Amino acid sequence: MNILVIHGPSLHLLGKREPELYGRATLKQLDARIKDRAAALGAKIRSFQSNSEGGIIDLLTANSGWAQALVINPAAYTHYSYAIRDAIKAVGLPAVEVHLTDISRREPWRRISVIKPVCAAQFKGGGADSYLKALEYCVKKLKAA
Ligand code: DQA
Repeated sequence: MNILVIHGPSLHLLGKREPELYGRATLKQLDARIKDRAAALGAKIRSFQSNSEGGIIDLLTANSGWAQALVINPAAYTHYSYAIRDAIKAVGLPAVEVHLTDISRREPWRRISVIKPVCAAQFKGGGADSYLKALEYCVKKLKAA
């Protein structure tokens, strides 16, 4: 089971970025937790972070032959990137959207996800656990397939 994890813009700043919202763990620490859980579940992870829309689409394309599922935190692109939405649909990988915070309880503009309609599930508001839940969801689906 090969799972592609993509972290969107400004998530490289985790640890120092608004820690009251996003926590004190760095992206490196988050990735370590994701990889540990994946190993326990028998899955392999490729994890990337990009600050640009085109960068995310290129990562999706380049890894779409390897991956069997996608876990993506599109960060601010969640709320307006039809380009990323189209790319997820185009590569055809089963996708799960994740957010550290609960976007449904934040500013009105964050409550909209243009990515959600092309994802099988959305996990939000659990900090790092949102990613771990997404991972578990993917493994369950891949095992059932
Ligand atoms: C986020 C929520 C987005 O609204 C925000 O732009 C982010 C992070 C989250 O993980 O909670 O960068 O995706």
